[in-house]
Amino acid sequence: MKGIVLAGGSGSRLYPMTAAVTKQLLPIYDKPMIYYPIATLMLAGVRDILLITTPKDMERYVDLLGDGARWGLNIQYAAQREPNGIAQAYVIGRDFVGNAPSALILGDNLFFGNGLSERLTHAAGIRRGAHIFACRVEDPERYGVIELDPSGQPLAIVEKPRAPKSNWAVTGLYFYDRRAPELVRELKPSARGELEISDLNALYLRAGELSVERLGRGFAWLDTGTPDSLIAAGQFVCTLETRQGMKIACLEEIALAQGFIDSDAFARLAAAAPPNFYGRYLKAFLADLEVAGRPPPLRAVVA
Ligand code: TTP
Repeated sequence: MKGIVLAGGSGSRLYPMTAAVTKQLLPIYDKPMIYYPIATLMLAGVRDILLITTPKDMERYVDLLGDGARWGLNIQYAAQREPNGIAQAYVIGRDFVGNAPSALILGDNLFFGNGLSERLTHAAGIRRGAHIFACRVEDPERYGVIELDPSGQPLAIVEKPRAPKSNWAVTGLYFYDRRAPELVRELKPSARGELEISDLNALYLRAGELSVERLGRGFAWLDTGTPDSLIAAGQFVCTLETRQGMKIACLEEIALAQGFIDSDAFARLAAAAPPNFYGRYLKAFLADLEVAGRPPPLRAVVA
């Protein structure tokens, strides 16, 4: 399975924070925002990742992530010149995706919850159709909203409805079979001039090939596009990490747990890290590993 992280956009709601720094490189507590969606893809077992950014920001992401080899990943880059819609990821990423199924995640979405890894792995097994996740929100009019029948089957998806028919918002994580790049060719820009991901999902829905998985109370889905949601996400991560002594979205740790790197490679990363909170965490993790003699199960469940 291929993975796309869509990290372009204008970040206008976060201006002036985003005047010189792209939104997805702003910190969520102790690491750059982009670590969280990458960690989510890694937990789904995805190693081939296309990062789509604006042309002006691409170099900064390359500085941070490189080719991803240190985490056992293959990260490639592509530019989106204008934020012309989320579904445009499949226009830009057509060659990268090729004939493979794929996962698309928005660069400002953070997922956390017990058992999330299993759910992601299950979704990544998709070979036919599309699989998306829905969460209950107080303000559904800001999102793509799913109307469900009493048995939980999706009836309709409406982008930013004025009068939402439910409180179930579509999250920024989508799994598609290999037809997604082809189906996107059928889409026309919406009234606001964007290639809408809701329209791609609606094509699958009309064909009876959209499954919607609801994430209940045990899960957190945070997007970080406003000053309030940015600080709320940072506080959420801080509270959990401080209380538990375990990190969320530590890419080195997830790479090891997923078997993308071995413990020797992990030890090299720990040795190369600066002697700050992050380096100390990796070294403590390595010490635990040496005692246990094998990679422990994931300590932090997500991203
Ligand atoms: P948005 O929150 O819709 O937009 P934005 O990030 O540009 O912020 P603002 O509304 O404050 O101007 O985008 C959600 C995510 O999707 C975000 O990570 C950016 C990304 N995105 C793109 O990369 N390209 C696009 O064309 C769109 C619509 C979004």
